[in-house]
Amino acid sequence: MSKKSLPLGIDVGGSGIKGAPVDLDKGEFAAERLRIETPEKATPEAVAEVIAQIVDHFDDVRGDSPIGITIPGVVTHGTVRTAANIDKSWIDFPIESFLEERLGHDVVVVNDADAAGMGELAFGAAKGHEGLVVMTTLGTGIGTALINEGVLVPNSELGHIEMNGSDAEPQAANSVRENEELSWEDWAARLQQYYTALENLIWPDLIVVGGGVSKKAKKFLPLLDIRTPIIPAELENAAGIIGAGVLAAQTHSKKSKKKK
Ligand code: BGC
Repeated sequence: MSKKSLPLGIDVGGSGIKGAPVDLDKGEFAAERLRIETPEKATPEAVAEVIAQIVDHFDDVRGDSPIGITIPGVVTHGTVRTAANIDKSWIDFPIESFLEERLGHDVVVVNDADAAGMGELAFGAAKGHEGLVVMTTLGTGIGTALINEGVLVPNSELGHIEMNGSDAEPQAANSVRENEELSWEDWAARLQQYYTALENLIWPDLIVVGGGVSKKAKKFLPLLDIRTPIIPAELENAAGIIGAGVLAAQTHSKKSKKKK
């Protein structure tokens, strides 16, 4: 791929919006990542201005570079459907077409965990694994990506399965460990319940554990006793941006073929 059509991955989070061009041969950033604070009133329009600044910042990104953008919510057909940790004005906003018009690039908007899963599949812990892989991101919430034989089934939202009669996320996310100052053992007991429920629902071949806390996987993964192989993610916080770049490039090439 020529340098000027490198895809750009952008991760929209509650505190920062981060982006970098993605080298699809190496599975790494092609330039140093740029981070800009998320605007206080983070409406789609305000976030679009920050995204435009990030696009302008990178020399590698011009012409037909596709752009992949991750959002912490459900995204169907380019429209955001849920907004747990972002401004409610995102719900039902046609963000993909809005950004395509604003930026003049092909844009793909994708759930954050789905992007991270695609990053780990292409270049990280899930690379070369066949069958059903589930990526779980343990952060403020619990995000999941379901990838079967290399094909993403988007918006799985399995962080919200039932545990003790209610939503698993506010019982087992990493933010809960931090806020309640749980020991690794106490948190692992909750994860044990969560991953047991998860594997009994979907019988995956592999579970990959991502999110910032995956750097400390040695402290809690060995405490889990489940049937499915469970391993830490490898790309750490680059997974989302890299996966968004992978998805943007895939979608872009499908669109270009259709036009021909
Ligand atoms: C949302 C998911 C998101 C996850 C991680 C959850 O609360 O429902 O869509 O992937 O948080 O940000």
